Amino acid sequence: MKHTIAVISGDGIGPEVTAQAKKALDAVAEAYDHIFLYKEAKIGACAIDATGDPLPKETLEICKNADAILFGAVGDIKYDNDPSAKVRPEQGLLRLRKELDLYCNVKPVKAYDNLIYNSPLKREVVKGTDFMIFRELSGGIYFGNKELSKDEKHAFDTCTYSVEEISRTAHLAFKAAQNRNKKVTLVDKANVMETSRLWRKTVAKIAEEYQDVTLEYLFIDNATMQLILNPKQFDVILTENLFGDIISDEASVISGSIGLLASSSIGDKNALFEPIHGTYYEAKGKNIANPLASILSAAMLLYHLGLNEEADAIERAVDKSIALGITTKDIKRKSQKSTTTSKVGDFIADYITNQDDSNMNFQNIHMGQSTII
Ligand code: IPM
Ligand code: MG
Repeated sequence: MKHTIAVISGDGIGPEVTAQAKKALDAVAEAYDHIFLYKEAKIGACAIDATGDPLPKETLEICKNADAILFGAVGDIKYDNDPSAKVRPEQGLLRLRKELDLYCNVKPVKAYDNLIYNSPLKREVVKGTDFMIFRELSGGIYFGNKELSKDEKHAFDTCTYSVEEISRTAHLAFKAAQNRNKKVTLVDKANVMETSRLWRKTVAKIAEEYQDVTLEYLFIDNATMQLILNPKQFDVILTENLFGDIISDEASVISGSIGLLASSSIGDKNALFEPIHGTYYEAKGKNIANPLASILSAAMLLYHLGLNEEADAIERAVDKSIALGITTKDIKRKSQKSTTTSKVGDFIADYITNQDDSNMNFQNIHMGQSTII
């Protein structure tokens, strides 16, 4: 089948990891006889440099008309250190979320047995962790009114939520829980915030429609602690935009590397798939960044298109690369040699097209040659 995929690889390590995800998709196209039509477009700092706009019209159009969006990362140090910059790379991503109404961000967090040694947490705390974060993405303090007073002595950001905004993400979380361990934990700050109290009321009502799912509540401060103390207690975490942003990064260390976490941002018409690691500027252009999160984002994209077998093939290849230690240095074992971003991508693509590893020469990986004998 033919599918159009918008590829907006963005800034920092975005382009180099997205290139590996494309290799995996190309391998899937070859192995399963599909055509993926890529439409490349700019977003973030590179788009500001080229056009002055972090989300050029053309990029928005390409994304609107694609079957799915493969996203890299946005941001640039020069803007991070300049709080007075009026145009910022992140505005590109935030506007894209708003324009396409990508209202729910879904992040699976799983501890890979082969990578537990890499987690800063104790093995017995991490082993068996498997949960998902459902983060509301289109509302809250991110999009409420904000202002800096003329004399620059006061500023405010407003957090607003409507029942409708809460409900659509909550339903997705409950549906996912029904197919998992049937527990939803709502993370909020209902002891302080009015919006959190609206979340509780709305979600409690929705829970009545999902009798097989248990609903629990946790305040955000406690939740950040529970994530580290006992991550296995969670099945589906449901939360608002800002709290979701914070716990997503915290959760990423559980799995052993932020370089492994993929996420999807879903709307009713469009869906975007991205690694959660961001631009990682220090690694830009060095061919050392871990491409697995981007490759796993491509797998999520395929699930979204209904290509489940194809997505499984990517996930199997990723599992294999980890098991064999064909990894970048952030997740390598002490006894292993690390390899480069592009060689991890080559291995994954070879493994997908060949479907088994009996004819592969793993030595070649480290020498940058084809892995096929
Ligand atoms: C994320 C990022 C973004 C966010 C930034 C880049 C605006 O941190 O996707 O989690 O805060 O939502
Ligand atoms: Mg974030």
